[in-house]
Amino acid sequence: APAPASTLVIFGANGDLTKRLLLPSLYNLTGAGLLPEGFGVIGLDHNERDDETYRRQLGEAMQSFVTDKGGEFAANGIDQQAWGCLRGRLSYLTGEFEDPATYERLAARIEAIRRSAGHGNCVFYLATSPRFFGPIIERLAEAGLMREERGDFRRIVVEKPFGTDLASARALNALILGHVAEEQVFRIDHFLGKETVQNILALRFANGMFEPLWRRDHIDHVQITAAETVGVETRGRFYEATGALRDMVPNHMMQLLAMTAMEPPNSFDADAVRAEKAKVVQAIRTLGPAELARDVVRGQYAAGTSKGMPVTGYRDEPNVSPDSGTETYVAMKLQIDNWRWAGVPFYIRTGKRMAVRRTEIAIQFKQAPFAMFRDTPVHRLTPNFMVIHIQPSEGISLHLSAKDPGPALKLSGVQMNFRYADWFRAAPSTGYETLLYDVLIGDATLFQRADNVEAGWSAVQPILEAQAAPDARVESYAAGSEGPAGADALLARDGRQWLSLL
Ligand code: BG6
Repeated sequence: APAPASTLVIFGANGDLTKRLLLPSLYNLTGAGLLPEGFGVIGLDHNERDDETYRRQLGEAMQSFVTDKGGEFAANGIDQQAWGCLRGRLSYLTGEFEDPATYERLAARIEAIRRSAGHGNCVFYLATSPRFFGPIIERLAEAGLMREERGDFRRIVVEKPFGTDLASARALNALILGHVAEEQVFRIDHFLGKETVQNILALRFANGMFEPLWRRDHIDHVQITAAETVGVETRGRFYEATGALRDMVPNHMMQLLAMTAMEPPNSFDADAVRAEKAKVVQAIRTLGPAELARDVVRGQYAAGTSKGMPVTGYRDEPNVSPDSGTETYVAMKLQIDNWRWAGVPFYIRTGKRMAVRRTEIAIQFKQAPFAMFRDTPVHRLTPNFMVIHIQPSEGISLHLSAKDPGPALKLSGVQMNFRYADWFRAAPSTGYETLLYDVLIGDATLFQRADNVEAGWSAVQPILEAQAAPDARVESYAAGSEGPAGADALLARDGRQWLSLL
């Protein structure tokens, strides 16, 4: 059903996120008939523009989005009807984010909408640099714009990065919650917009056959991988201060871990789900000095190849220091100290400029207790993995042993594969459609509560502190490889191996 009539105010209307993700998502939602009559967008940014110029610029952005994505996104180019409908709903407001006068003008606009359209529902989307998050929320509150009166809703959407460590994330939460109620806050983690990530809960809790095995008695260990082929691209300055750990682990990787390891919630209500996710992340054992030295591997890409082409190393990228110690790869072993997972390691790895782009969760089940097959000793049985493929190809596969045809009793590894594409014809999407729609209907299940964000930061805080030391090590790996040798050694010490990316 279409969302309720509302106004989406985008702070950072001329930014990259708006053009690359928000606009195409709004276009898709329009095409799907999910935006109501009475929906409007106010783009807010500091550059001078009038409505018509803004619409034209977004039209161009939309065109290049569709052209870049090509067949995957819109085989027939832009659907003029959907775009025409969305275009007419776009307007623009010039203003500095820190200037109270901006908020007076915004309030006047919203009041005018109330008079003409009969509603005052607003979503304020903070698609700006994170340094503006605090000031914008303070000004919105001071201008009375966060007060929910006459049955209207007022919500804010906060983008990543949410803080740069535990203390700053706590401070930002304290600032936000000093002005608005938790129910009004939607903290984005775009991994939760991915169908396959949402499907983890369906896989686990809508099927009776897996959940009984989903525990320490049957699972040997879990591997969570987010490998990218891209380098830091144009984001050298941001990335130098951020690194792979901050960029990916407390947020995206923790989401994947939480979805895999959480207890069944009492219901799919937002708070029931988020409470279970917070609980399991809070159960991650705090890394002490011994684990920090042994169980965390930081890597940085050196020159190598990407898709057959030579590429430079990280230290030669624009806006990167030639002796940078920033990690572009991180791997670690985590333990979850709870009843279900005690003793089951969760190995996590993520990196840029790796051999392939692949995000997946591989669950290795325990070996059969003994092998009665004369020609295949137990250590040669195929390890039983369940692999949840998040991207680029979406699906689930099971790695099994099966008998080779013929008179001898010989075994080989085989796979059972479920591919999304074989069963569903999903409309191409950016992954933001569900998230935007959920904000408009007020469903916070796929958003991070304050405690979820803080639990993620808590888990990595000891690593952040250790890597700030002057003697922190970063191991080099060739661009286009599977990561640094230290990451293989990390699993080898436990008699295990990463599932190959090749
Ligand atoms: C972002 C990170 O949050 O996630 C990027 O800042 C990273 O560095 C991206 O590339 C990965 O997202 P996806 O959806 O491409 O896997």
